[in-house]
Amino acid sequence: MFKDDLTAAATATQDRLVQAMAEMGNLPVVQGMRYAVAGGKGLRGYLVIEGARLHGIPVAESVTAAAAIEAVHAYSLVHDDLPCMDDDDLRRGQPTVHKKWDDGTAVLVGDALQTLAFELVSQASDKAEVNVALVTSLAKASGAQGMVLGQAQDIAAETATTPLTLDQIIELQGNKTGALIEWSGVAGAMLAQADTAPLRAYAQALGLAFQIADDILDVEGDAAAVGKAVGKDADAGKATFVSLLGLDAAKTRAAELVDQACDALAPYGEEGVSLKQAARFVVERRK
Ligand code: IPE
Ligand code: IPE
Ligand code: MG
Ligand code: MG
Ligand code: MG
Repeated sequence: MFKDDLTAAATATQDRLVQAMAEMGNLPVVQGMRYAVAGGKGLRGYLVIEGARLHGIPVAESVTAAAAIEAVHAYSLVHDDLPCMDDDDLRRGQPTVHKKWDDGTAVLVGDALQTLAFELVSQASDKAEVNVALVTSLAKASGAQGMVLGQAQDIAAETATTPLTLDQIIELQGNKTGALIEWSGVAGAMLAQADTAPLRAYAQALGLAFQIADDILDVEGDAAAVGKAVGKDADAGKATFVSLLGLDAAKTRAAELVDQACDALAPYGEEGVSLKQAARFVVERRK
């Protein structure tokens, strides 16, 4: 069942991150790193571990890649919350890193989590060629062709003189959120040196559905449950499915994307059930 799989994956991933940071001492930047990787849903790490399991790879051999993507994700959130970006005080139900420490520490926490992620992913497999492929693809997914590009597009959209088109919003969200989720989806197949196409199609649809759900939660969610401030996207002038299409059409689109994600899992037959439940969870979640 997905819920149990998610909990198990999140625990294993968290343990791996704690282990990776065990020898780093206790400077504020390291305290901030430990703080920033804790308390998330762990969905990206789960996708890595479950995609690997589908290809016969046990958790022990996928958890390092899972820890790497959760470290990149945590870094992206620490920077996303900074006053110069989304300016948020609450993350995962706790003060954001720059609130608990300061802006400089938060910048460095993000920087160090990003380099930790690459240290980890370079050791993800015992096959050097697999590690090279994982490092290269994670760099592309994270950087100026992926998450960073999407974040730049997101910030630019706030002051755009004309609203973004649907295609532009799909591109923005595919970069800012989709790229890391896509990497998470295919990493397990990459660890197995298997065909990545079905999981890529799954994760592309899932990534878009995920960001639409995040945008819906910003409108309909409860801050205490979501663990972050809500009702901010419209005021900030964010370009989202909700801002362009409204809530109902955004929900319809998210549901279509979930169906698309599930259809992409056909090659895995019954084995794909946990990932199908994950896709439904992504749009039904309250946090
Ligand atoms: C939030 O991601 C940021 C987005 C990309 C929308 P998650 O909702 O996965 O955040 P955590 O990791 O569970 O806190
Ligand atoms: C964040 O998108 C995406 C990344 C951090 C790359 P949002 O800005 O919508 O995420 P939340 O709502 O702050 O979690
Ligand atoms: Mg943002
Ligand atoms: Mg934000
Ligand atoms: Mg959001």
